[in-house]
Amino acid sequence: MKRVKVSLQNQSYGIHIACRLLSKTGQKLREIGLSDKLVIITNPIVKRLYGDALEQSLTRNGFSVATLEVPDGEEQKSLETAARLYTELNNLYAERATPILALGGGVIGDLAGFVAATYLRGVPLVQIPTTLLAQVDSSIGGKVAVNHGQLKNRIGAFYQPRLVISDVSTLKTLPPKEFANGLAEVIKSAVIRDREFFAFIEANLDKIKALDEAVLEEIVFRSARIKAEVVEKDEIDLGLRNILNFGHTIGHAIETVSDFKVVHGAAVAIGMLAAASISNRLGILDQNELTRLKRLLQGAGLPTETSGHKIKEIIQTIKHDKKILGGKIRFVLPRAIGNVFITDEVDLSLVEQVLAD
Ligand SMILES: NC(=O)c1ccc[n+]([C@@H]2O[C@H](COP(=O)([O-])OP(=O)(O)OC[C@H]3O[C@@H](n4cnc5c(N)ncnc54)[C@H](O)[C@@H]3O)[C@@H](O)[C@H]2O)c1
Repeated sequence: MKRVKVSLQNQSYGIHIACRLLSKTGQKLREIGLSDKLVIITNPIVKRLYGDALEQSLTRNGFSVATLEVPDGEEQKSLETAARLYTELNNLYAERATPILALGGGVIGDLAGFVAATYLRGVPLVQIPTTLLAQVDSSIGGKVAVNHGQLKNRIGAFYQPRLVISDVSTLKTLPPKEFANGLAEVIKSAVIRDREFFAFIEANLDKIKALDEAVLEEIVFRSARIKAEVVEKDEIDLGLRNILNFGHTIGHAIETVSDFKVVHGAAVAIGMLAAASISNRLGILDQNELTRLKRLLQGAGLPTETSGHKIKEIIQTIKHDKKILGGKIRFVLPRAIGNVFITDEVDLSLVEQVLAD
């Protein structure tokens, strides 16, 4: 098993990463001294696959467990669903000490995390992420939220979990599209912080795609370590944490313009390559580095071109993006693989040119 420690000012917690870890969850929750009565929040897809394994591990260790289900889908990240969960928690006589276990992808993690942060002014939260994206990104760092109509993650909090349990065996049942989504974030982690990790992904891409468990454990561990390190330095997103948005300025715009038909990971892949191309045009990023990034994204089955997407609309959407400061566009650009910087000085005409090419 691999462990990452997230050390924050008021609280520290562990991220445990291994194969077949669900069956050890009960024991791990005992180790951190959680109270006997637990509530799992999950969806029907994840419950059918992993609900029993988790429940058995918990009851074997003397916990009593109730499971609350919400339907699958991003639209469940809403105040309405949160309100329904508050009622159900109340019906279960959940108390201040009753932990909530978020079993699922980023949608469940964000929603259950938001409910944990707000019910009775906060109950203990354990993240049990089951998608690659959730294991390398959303379960770490304490951002929990629901959407407000079309406004993504508009109502939320910083609320750190007590423990994150990433069982990489659960990734074997992920639809390939969801796996690719997460892989885009894994590649992002490497580009922003860890050149050697990038080389590791290049060298092990076939094993990653074949879902080799040892390699999955390694990529989740290294990505989690990077996210944890960034979060430790900037817990409430005042500076450094911005680098986690590498590829996301253009990526979000592509998702929006395509009416979310282009999935997040695919959009971020195009966004990362566009940001790298901008850096290359500015004479900062070496051509060889740009080629390596393009080759890896393509090898991972991710798109690298905007073909078919409406460039003018993408530019318009970027202009409305929340990352605009004082009328200028904020971009995270790579200096080299493993090293990025934040700039407010990117000219929109250059962005347009790069997208058109
Ligand atoms: N809090 C953060 O810091 C943060 C960071 C990035 C993204 N997010 C949020 O994460 C969400 C996206 O998360 P996601 O990509 O995990 O999507 P998701 O939670 O919708 O999961 C994707 C799909 O996979 C299914 N699934 C989950 N685990 C599975 C498994 N092991 N086997 C088979 N199917 C499984 C889900 O039911 C769903 O249908 C978005 O709402 C986004 O805003 C949050």
